[in-house]
Amino acid sequence: MSHESIIQLMIDKGYSDLVGGGDPRDNGELNLAILNKYYSLNENSSVLDYGCGCGRLALPLLEQMQGAGKYVGIDIIPDLIDFCISEISTIYSNSQFIRVDAQNSHYSKWLNNIRSNDYNLAHLAETECQSYSLITAFSVFTHMPKREMALNLNLLSNLLQPNGKIILSMFLINSFTHSCIESGISMISFNRNSFKLNQHIFYADQKDPMAAVGVTEDFLFDIASESGLTVTDIHYGRWRGRPSELSFQDVVVLGKAAHLPDNFNAKRYLDMNSDLPWSPESPSGLLDAKLHYLHHGYYEGRRSK
Ligand SMILES: C[S@@+](CC[C@H](N)C(=O)[O-])C[C@H]1O[C@@H](n2cnc3c(N)ncnc32)[C@H](O)[C@@H]1O
Repeated sequence: MSHESIIQLMIDKGYSDLVGGGDPRDNGELNLAILNKYYSLNENSSVLDYGCGCGRLALPLLEQMQGAGKYVGIDIIPDLIDFCISEISTIYSNSQFIRVDAQNSHYSKWLNNIRSNDYNLAHLAETECQSYSLITAFSVFTHMPKREMALNLNLLSNLLQPNGKIILSMFLINSFTHSCIESGISMISFNRNSFKLNQHIFYADQKDPMAAVGVTEDFLFDIASESGLTVTDIHYGRWRGRPSELSFQDVVVLGKAAHLPDNFNAKRYLDMNSDLPWSPESPSGLLDAKLHYLHHGYYEGRRSK
């Protein structure tokens, strides 16, 4: 089936509206452009698309990947994952879609079809620790309570390789955003009481709080550092009522610096990875082993050549 037909099916089945509406083609292309701005895809890239929805990003991204590397999409809604498996995995053999188990009040009516073999993110973080060079989460941290954001970012950090990146889109509240909301120019009116109460989380709709969630920039910096991540870029979005050529939501890029574990043993690393050409007897060989680990390693095992 062509991309055009899959996109038409997303619209006809109501999945495009379920994940935010608009033209799914434009949305996918836009998020791909954001990905390409901050990350250089290559044939070794392994991408985890957290909250992949109905595959709006997956389609153009997999086309760009041209069969190389690996793409995994995960989401909590069984119907969306089933759709991606039947329409997208069948065309792109380097793609995989997995349903993960989590509750979400905004999507609750779509979550009644839960199966027994479902994973949750914690399980995935354990079995696929440090497997991904890039994790995207477009408009997913906009639908979660604070505690879950902290927990899930931590698990995503476990899934990320050293030197990997996480690209998120979300609604960030700082003093400027606050003034945009107060003066009524912002396109989303987050609850002003949250400012008065000095809370870090903001809802646009009190009756459906998970429909659109904003958090303070301080909170983002805190949960990033608690997860071993550094905020390397923030690009503010149009939702504040100010122009932005990039996107409606704010885009946040997080990096995971590589470091050698305290107990790293370069000789053992070379012994365990016998295809590496360096001698464990020479100082330069041990140095090369350390550099190799920083780019590819996972303790003494490793994820890529
Ligand atoms: C606004 S949609 C965006 C979908 C997709 N990223 C896109 O841009 O097309 C939010 C998605 O996040 C998913 N989601 C919400 N909470 C989640 C969680 N805890 N884990 C994984 N996915 C989640 C929802 O099911 C939904 O598909």
